[in-house]
Amino acid sequence: MAQVSERQTLAPDLKKILLTEDEISKRVSELASEINEKYKDTQEPLILVGVLKGSFIFLSDLSRKLTIPHVVDFIAVSSYGSGGDKRGEVRFLMDTRENITGRDVLIVEDILDSGNTLYYLTKIFKSRGTKNLETAVFLDKSERHEMEVDVKYIGFEIPDVWVVGYGLDYKEKYRTLPYVAEMYPQKD
Ligand code: IMP
Ligand code: MG
Repeated sequence: MAQVSERQTLAPDLKKILLTEDEISKRVSELASEINEKYKDTQEPLILVGVLKGSFIFLSDLSRKLTIPHVVDFIAVSSYGSGGDKRGEVRFLMDTRENITGRDVLIVEDILDSGNTLYYLTKIFKSRGTKNLETAVFLDKSERHEMEVDVKYIGFEIPDVWVVGYGLDYKEKYRTLPYVAEMYPQKD
């Protein structure tokens, strides 16, 4: 069984598997069905905007399960004041290629933690005059929210632990694991 082999090969700094490949696939299909239903009568393609890098696997799985017309775009952002955990307005390292004014847009994020990234992103996107703006996050650490963000599609609620896999990393490690694992707390 997939789960057994995943356990056997779990790296020593990973504590346990939180979400298996099968659970993830099933949930992503459910989210795709909701999105297909919501946009079934829409004429212009939905613009999926993935927030790099963490969302790239979620976005590629989700988009391949969409039957509605859609296009894929990406942005890269960083928080102002990169030292420590200082929060603030996000800065664009790379902006969308599509013009999002007057369009249906779905922001696709890996995880909602403090909510800072999505709070500012939705504010900036709305100011550009999107027709309809929604957000999909793969994971939600609801205990950690500091900013109020309206997220339409949520994959899974998870506890306040550091997770890796399915796009999420620890210092660029473990991003391409097919499952989501909890890490043992790290010193830095
Ligand atoms: P925010 O605090 O909601 O703005 O989230 C900031 C970013 O922190 C997320 O987009 C992730 O890239 C990253 N992040 C937060 N928690 C985790 C985690 O458990 N694993 C990997 N990345 C995380
Ligand atoms: Mg991210």
